[in-house]
Amino acid sequence: MIKPVKKIVLPVAGLGTRFLPATKAIPKEMLPVLDKPLIQYAVEEALEAGIEEIILVTGRNKQVMEDHFDHAYELERILQEKGKEEALELSRSMLLEEGRITYVRQMRPRGLGHAIWCARSFVNDSPFAVALPDDLIKGKPGVLKQMIQAYNEVGGNIIATMDVAKEDTSKYGVITPGESSGKLTEVKGLVEKPHPEDAPSTEAVVGRYILQPEVMEHLAAKEIGAGGEIQLTDALDKLIGNQPFHALNFEGKRFDCGSKIGWLMANLSMAGDDPILASQMRQLITFQ
Ligand code: G1P
Repeated sequence: MIKPVKKIVLPVAGLGTRFLPATKAIPKEMLPVLDKPLIQYAVEEALEAGIEEIILVTGRNKQVMEDHFDHAYELERILQEKGKEEALELSRSMLLEEGRITYVRQMRPRGLGHAIWCARSFVNDSPFAVALPDDLIKGKPGVLKQMIQAYNEVGGNIIATMDVAKEDTSKYGVITPGESSGKLTEVKGLVEKPHPEDAPSTEAVVGRYILQPEVMEHLAAKEIGAGGEIQLTDALDKLIGNQPFHALNFEGKRFDCGSKIGWLMANLSMAGDDPILASQMRQLITFQ
């Protein structure tokens, strides 16, 4: 019996140091790509995949994200008075039923693995998804939906991966690949941010995971890994051999919105999908 995936953990406690000073008072997950903050893209992708319950692992100075998923009464009243129906609808676009979004605080930045472990009571004994909101992935359907479709066939753990340049392996979790069948590859090992010479392959983990709750037992050991942090990758490596573990070579384009160039490309790519903006952009480029 494959248990359905209905929960997602969104770690959003990171400091966003690569985007200072923009992220001094604003969480990096609230940086907009066009007109929506990064966190909204992640939540929309989760809802599209059939996820019902969402937990944000937050930190200090992240409260504004709770406001984003709540009513803004004053704004709504003014928009209503002015008859701005479209704007009103947009301001209400992320109002989920109470209880579907919850929050837990990670008190110190101790790494992605530690952030996920902070959500252990929410996960309990269910399989769950994880999405890192600064990895914005354009896909049709969204990557989480692609992963859940694959999960419903093979079960176990699934990570989204893509091929990267050899010199970039030290930025990612990297897999030791086993047998492949279609878009799925068996994962035989996982290592966090290996030096290019030591990397087992160039197949890198991007920020989307479907995981079994047993990962929490390994995270509870709080072993320190790459960069002096508690790494999710290390705990995942320990599941291999005990549970099915696959990498999905997803269809879509990933933008690392924690970096300036990734964020800029994401904006250009999203604008390119809007016929009016695309034509305005073309005119600007031609006239320069
Ligand atoms: C995290 C993960 C890493 C993964 C990456 C994808 O690293 O630890 O395994 O490849 O996200 O974006 P971070 O970018 O947070 O250092």
